[in-house]
Amino acid sequence: MSIGGATRFELSEADIPTRWYNVVADMPSPPPPPLHPATGRPPDPQDLLAIFPPDLVEQEVSSERHIAIPEPVLDIYRLWRPTPLYRARRLERALETPAHIYYKYEGVSPAGSHKPNTAVPQAYYNRRAGIGRLTTETGAGQWGSALAFAARSFDLDIRVYMVRVSYGQKPYRRLMMETWGAEVVASPSTLTASGRGTLDRDPDSPGSLGIAISEAVEEAASRKDTNYSLGSVLNHVLLHQTVIGQEARKQFDLAGDYPDVVVASCGGGSNFAGLAFPFLGERLTGNAPKETRFVAVEPAACPTLTRGIYAYDFGDASGFTPLMKMFTLGHGFVPPGIHAGGLRYHGDSPLVSKLVADGLVEAQAYGQVGVFSAAVQFARSEGIIPAPESAHAIKGAVEEALAAKRDGAARTILFGLSGHGHFDLAAYEQYLSGALQDFELPTAAIDQALKELPAVDRA
Ligand SMILES: Cc1ncc(COP(=O)(O)O)c(C=O)c1O
Repeated sequence: MSIGGATRFELSEADIPTRWYNVVADMPSPPPPPLHPATGRPPDPQDLLAIFPPDLVEQEVSSERHIAIPEPVLDIYRLWRPTPLYRARRLERALETPAHIYYKYEGVSPAGSHKPNTAVPQAYYNRRAGIGRLTTETGAGQWGSALAFAARSFDLDIRVYMVRVSYGQKPYRRLMMETWGAEVVASPSTLTASGRGTLDRDPDSPGSLGIAISEAVEEAASRKDTNYSLGSVLNHVLLHQTVIGQEARKQFDLAGDYPDVVVASCGGGSNFAGLAFPFLGERLTGNAPKETRFVAVEPAACPTLTRGIYAYDFGDASGFTPLMKMFTLGHGFVPPGIHAGGLRYHGDSPLVSKLVADGLVEAQAYGQVGVFSAAVQFARSEGIIPAPESAHAIKGAVEEALAAKRDGAARTILFGLSGHGHFDLAAYEQYLSGALQDFELPTAAIDQALKELPAVDRA
């Protein structure tokens, strides 16, 4: 049976945004600054320059509304941008919903996700600052592969600390990184030796993004030729991702529609921010045609926004980073080994956290069995097999579409399909064989980790 109607809304190369959008310029109140744990004051930019290049430190603290994208970065963006916006007509039909469902697909990048949108400028600015080597962490391997690709593009060496549970589950992600020339080690590793003794050195530990960040930061801080690169959380990372939402905004003009709700998965927040902030900016400046809602979706096993508290905490497990005011489950919290490795982070971006605290962004948490069920339904109607992280957004969008059906009211839903799941098929195998399980909400572990929040928050 024919479905009819436009399915893909394509832009040309000339439509690639030439500026990133900085939501800080339009927020009702800016997020509280990061604090140095020893002094309780904002860190000296000199501290940040030990591990980041000057351009990124400047972007981190900028409140300029727009920041120009350098030409060498645009050159590499042209390899896959603009990315397509699809109308999910077959999913709409499968759900028998009156809702219009659209998705912005970032899986067409070389690394298969949204992550190269920031990996490329980060590699570029480091090369420009004369840096020859990067370290980073990776959860499911999406960020590590994005930075491995970007580092190769600007001729940088790179070492990736890969969270141990993913290192075991995702050998092909590791091989992708190695193909682009990266060195990959399982974290917790024995390479770094934290003097603080808080790193979990248990060889059976599944690891966590917090631990892997500690290792990568520690190494970068101890070597002059090496900088650190972070795949999410920080303001400059969220900034770079706004090419996604800016393109989607133009594509909605082509479609003659506008979202009532924008849904995206949220690990450290960059994917959500990249899609949502350009639309949120229109709302905050009174230029949006609708009162659009914004929904960040996270895993029930790592429910940072829905179960965490809004407090100052470290960004890593052993306390090397400045303290950031964010929703957190406690930096010592090690989430269960769910398949959406990129969503296993104890904290969240300070920008997204502030917007949640101010009631401008909503959050939802779902267990992985329901998430994979939505992913399979999506694959069977739209064709694309989603990354487990992206499948959280699908679940959120499906719930919105079913609510529209119950209400008998049309609504336009936009969700971020942040990556493909071609290297996540072991997780699909578990789901399809009925072996995939939900983890209990790790209440006791969260309560324990929250007791160990740094004292500054109570000051
Ligand atoms: C495919 C995919 N989607 C979403 C996310 C969540 O990322 P963010 O930290 O940008 O929220 C990740 C993280 O690794 C990912 O790999």
